[in-house]
Amino acid sequence: MPRIPLIAGNWKMHTTIGEATALAKAIVAASTDLVDRQVMLAPPFTALAAVADTIRGSNIILGAQNIGWASQGAFTGEISPPMLKDLGCTMAIIGHSERRHIFGETDELINRRVKGAVSQGVIPILCIGEQLEEREADRTMSVLEGQLKGGLQEISIADPNQLVIAYEPVWAIGTGKTASPIQAQEAHKFIRHVLVNLFEKSVASQIRILYGGSVIPDTIGILMDQDDIDGALVGGAALQPGSFSRIMHF
Ligand code: 13P
Repeated sequence: MPRIPLIAGNWKMHTTIGEATALAKAIVAASTDLVDRQVMLAPPFTALAAVADTIRGSNIILGAQNIGWASQGAFTGEISPPMLKDLGCTMAIIGHSERRHIFGETDELINRRVKGAVSQGVIPILCIGEQLEEREADRTMSVLEGQLKGGLQEISIADPNQLVIAYEPVWAIGTGKTASPIQAQEAHKFIRHVLVNLFEKSVASQIRILYGGSVIPDTIGILMDQDDIDGALVGGAALQPGSFSRIMHF
């Protein structure tokens, strides 16, 4: 069974409510002809409600940029899975490299978020990726394996659509340096091999693995041609409707 491509836009800490609404409107208008793929938008929390209104009736999926694990409680600054579902979010980015490296999120904390999301019906997009020093020291695969095993500890899923993985080499994020298609495919193939050890083969073979890191309209085609690349997690280029539209239409 072919995996359905997923093009996801991570807007990071950008857009006011007005800007987010205008961007979402332009993306909805550009997406009406897309039937064989999914598009997900992850605006900042403050714009989720407005973007939910704007995309209503379209096929676009709403995602959050992070997610708390408990359903409610004394967790100042966190947003729970039921709160996100209430806004129409069905997916959440977890363990983004900026959460790991700027805010110190560990595999253990990320695993709690993944568990909370899966158990409460939000699809995690678990982000993993090596830093430049790790790649240069030939440690890429062991870093990816550690992040996958740590983030997915005690997770069991019966349906491959309950989980998405995003491979985002840290050195490629916001730098204009996309991983080469060969480097990306090598990492994605390895990720799938680790997933096969964690889940039933029939499930692991259907889990989507996105590539992220300086994806632009000129690079998406060759990335999507690789066997184990099932979509993209786009940062900077997702903020420009023209670029994101070209990426969606790869
Ligand atoms: P850029 O596309 O800006 O490199 O960001 C990638 C990213 O971090 C998406 O989550």
